[in-house]
Amino acid sequence: MQLSPLLLALLVLVATAQASPVTRSLTQDEQLQQARDQAAAQVQAAVPMTPEMQAFLDKYKNTQIPADMTPTASNQLVSSKKPASSAPSLWGSAPSRPTVSTQGVSLMNTFARYSAAAYCVNLFNLADWTCGANCQGGTAGTNDVTSIWKEPSAFKSLMAVNTNLKVIVVSFRGSLEPQNFVADIRLNLVDGPSRLPNLPSGAKVHAGFWDTWAVGKSEVVSYVKSARSRYPTFKVYVTGHSLGGAMAVLAALDLRRTLSIPDSQLAVYTYGEPRVGNPTFASYVSNQSFEISRFVHEDDVVPHIPLRSWGYAHHRGENYEINSKVYQCTTTGSNEADDCSNSRVPTINIVSHLMAMDVVFGPWC
Ligand SMILES: *[C@@H]1O[C@H](CO)[C@@H](O)[C@H](O)[C@H]1NC(C)=O
Repeated sequence: MQLSPLLLALLVLVATAQASPVTRSLTQDEQLQQARDQAAAQVQAAVPMTPEMQAFLDKYKNTQIPADMTPTASNQLVSSKKPASSAPSLWGSAPSRPTVSTQGVSLMNTFARYSAAAYCVNLFNLADWTCGANCQGGTAGTNDVTSIWKEPSAFKSLMAVNTNLKVIVVSFRGSLEPQNFVADIRLNLVDGPSRLPNLPSGAKVHAGFWDTWAVGKSEVVSYVKSARSRYPTFKVYVTGHSLGGAMAVLAALDLRRTLSIPDSQLAVYTYGEPRVGNPTFASYVSNQSFEISRFVHEDDVVPHIPLRSWGYAHHRGENYEINSKVYQCTTTGSNEADDCSNSRVPTINIVSHLMAMDVVFGPWC
């Protein structure tokens, strides 16, 4: 059999391309730059960009993770390494785990919209529930909207009732300043039980996250108390993105205790949540029977800080989005899944923190 010269040339070309994968020649810095560019392209493709959104995105894109905060395989204590056969990958690979059901993804999408709506700076649009995409889709049917904004602290919360879904929603805003957020996260762990009496001794929480929650706690408690008296069968969903996700975990524990909410009527849905406390705290949270979804979008850095080597751990409930699919990363206690978002360490970036599914977090509405 005789090969045509054209086919032969093509074969040679394919063989050469396979022998020298481009990623092998990239430095770590170049890989991180590529990860940021790809993440930014993903955000740009997801929503129609206004100049305001572009400026916000650029700010995120130019925020560097300080070297001593950059998670690496060793300071994260990730026990199982990536398979040796795979070249360094920007996008990682899907875990061999079940995906979340369509109904489950739809609920995660709804609470991502509530978490994103908490960033809205136009309180009139929130009151009327006309804040654009985040006020549509699964969040339609929202009423009784109340916003609490406590300047200069980072406390901002959106509370509402959704009579379609039959839920009471408490949503916390994250930080608008990624550079400050990354710096603030250095604060220390402080005693848990003196702040949240149900916590076991030895449990510690991040001082900054707790202090931020404490600023607006009484207003949130009174809203939920009143909403529950009007809608006693509605489940309470506490949600938030980034710092807001950390506050959601603390708020859920505090609301549960203060208002005696049964675990079957309580759920926590977070997005890009940083680690909130030490392994004893994480284990306690994991042991509770209320529903927890801790959503991680692709190679977002924030779920990897504060570092595990600083004494922090995640609670259960990771739902990991990769290539537009969401995987259930079930764990127990303070064990973290190594084959889900942790497998993306160390090529992670801040831009990916801005998204969950088709929802983009930022101050537009
Ligand atoms: C969580 O439950 C496990 C298994 O029952 C137990 O060993 C662990 O001590 C519990 N964690 C906390 C903080 O209570």
